Amino acid sequence: MDTASLTGKDLAAALNAETTARARTLTEQAGRAPRLALIVANDDPASAWYVNSLKKSATNRGIECETVDLGADASAEALRTELSVRSADPDTDAIMLQTPLPAGVTLEDVSPAIAANKDVDGVSPLSLGLLAAGSPGFAPATAEAVVELLKHHDIALEGRHVAVVGRSNVVGKPLAHLLLARHATVTVCHSRTTDLPAVTAAADVVVAAAGRIGLVTGANLKPGAVVIDVGTNESADGTIVGDVDTESVRGIAAALSPVPGGVGPVTTALLMRHVVMAAEQARRSG
Ligand SMILES: NC(=O)c1ccc[n+]([C@@H]2O[C@H](COP(=O)([O-])OP(=O)(O)OC[C@H]3O[C@@H](n4cnc5c(N)ncnc54)[C@H](OP(=O)(O)O)[C@@H]3O)[C@@H](O)[C@H]2O)c1
Repeated sequence: MDTASLTGKDLAAALNAETTARARTLTEQAGRAPRLALIVANDDPASAWYVNSLKKSATNRGIECETVDLGADASAEALRTELSVRSADPDTDAIMLQTPLPAGVTLEDVSPAIAANKDVDGVSPLSLGLLAAGSPGFAPATAEAVVELLKHHDIALEGRHVAVVGRSNVVGKPLAHLLLARHATVTVCHSRTTDLPAVTAAADVVVAAAGRIGLVTGANLKPGAVVIDVGTNESADGTIVGDVDTESVRGIAAALSPVPGGVGPVTTALLMRHVVMAAEQARRSG
């Protein structure tokens, strides 16, 4: 069996073109561009690289992006204050909080300070609750990217069994809700799942989001399954690889998303779309 490559580049390009047009309209109407505040409190090189790529992407879409660096030793209180100030600031349309956070500070400690209407990466408990309830709000962009990538490649979800490997608040859990909303039957796996290979082997669609190189192999898949690789891990030679052992999966899976070039570009494109949506909503209600 040929294994199709579920690339995200075409979808990301289409989303980006639409976002750029919407940002231009907003700028013409309001006299200023949509504005994203990126809150950083770490000195992690991977985070710095990601912040730069977000800034570049925002600039290319006509979105203004301000980085607020509170330093790697910022307290939870300082972070909450900054997030509250930005949440109340009419000139800030959208807020993103970068991870990792300072030692001893958790996302649960500080994310409730982000107003839900500006929480474009859906990290606060309120955003996650709205998603679970099926109410309007922003889903975490990575989770949404998985569903959009499947939709773009015409992969049906209704009635199909999807195994999600990973239960984090930013990927696995929100993804489970998005898949349920599309009428999939969802099994969420984690580090204490006793027989992960048995679960993935029973699934029509497997989403690997554990951050473990080689966790999903061809031997643990149903022939013809669709595999989405969310993982972004640094391999021994410094390249970025996913959670799926691509060599063993080829010829068994019907389709596999590449890393890089699969979920990643769609995630960034959706984040930018969320920024424009937040700005549109603010202008409508303001
Ligand atoms: N492409 C993108 O845009 C994008 C965006 C965000 C994240 N990512 C990548 O996606 C991956 C997951 O990110 P995350 O933030 O969700 O990570 P995370 O917070 O570390 O969560 C990892 C999840 O995987 C589970 N897990 C770990 N080892 C496992 C194993 N051997 N078997 C089954 N489950 C296992 C953990 O289980 P427990 O809950 O039991 O610990 C946890 O639920 C990472 O590689 C990350 O870099 C990619």
